[in-house]
Amino acid sequence: MKKTALTLLTAAVFLGGCAPDEEKPVPEKKQEAANKKPAAKKEAGPVIETSYFNQLKEVDDLQVIQNPENPMVLVNKEFSLPSDYTPPDLVRPAVQFSFGNQDIEKSYMRKEAASALEKMFAAAEADGLYLFAVSGYRSYNRQEEILAAGAAASGKEEALKSIAPPGMSEHQSGLAMDISSENNGFELNEAFESTEEGKWLKEHAYEYGFILRYPKGKEHITQYIYEPWHFRYIGTEAAKIIHEQNWTLEEYFKHVKPAE
Ligand code: DAL
Ligand code: ZN
Repeated sequence: MKKTALTLLTAAVFLGGCAPDEEKPVPEKKQEAANKKPAAKKEAGPVIETSYFNQLKEVDDLQVIQNPENPMVLVNKEFSLPSDYTPPDLVRPAVQFSFGNQDIEKSYMRKEAASALEKMFAAAEADGLYLFAVSGYRSYNRQEEILAAGAAASGKEEALKSIAPPGMSEHQSGLAMDISSENNGFELNEAFESTEEGKWLKEHAYEYGFILRYPKGKEHITQYIYEPWHFRYIGTEAAKIIHEQNWTLEEYFKHVKPAE
């Protein structure tokens, strides 16, 4: 079959070449180049080897993550956690909270993230800065309530710029913590970026495995407003690369090749 096709092609080129009034045949190499599609523009930055991918299943038009315990899980407006997912190892980190010692849902995080958070807060304190944890783990139902309250206050479209739909919040993964300081009135707002605590976090969070998940200027990628208070634990290896390359987690996964 292949041989026949090749023979026909060769014959066509040969006959074409013989016709006196027709254009000269394009030399083979040039023809190859002309047929090639323009190469996809290569993303600048290193190629990362990782096996930490989302495993997905489409359920009711949603891309639902099947391995939500993956510490590098990519949760966003495209990829959803299962509605019944609760992280398996939630603990209360030994740090200061904006709401004191109340033992409430939002003071919890997954174990590895909690221990990294403790180290990060201690390091800030050693530099004379006092960080306060404001909001960590949130259940699917709690996220639903928060979005409903936001939508009632400012309309759903506006609310979705800063509040994730239920299932699509990193807070449900137990790997995120909103952080503020007394200096900032314990508020979660853009002004936090100008405080000493906000600046320290921006510079040092990656050393403890955290990334500033919704950076300024990347709103078109993250689909959320700039949130200088929202930090996501992903582990020190990836956090360092993301910090150095000035990437979002979405951009990180564009540079990935599967580890052997
Ligand atoms: N504020 C972030 C996007 C959340 O609601 O999870
Ligand atoms: Zn947050």
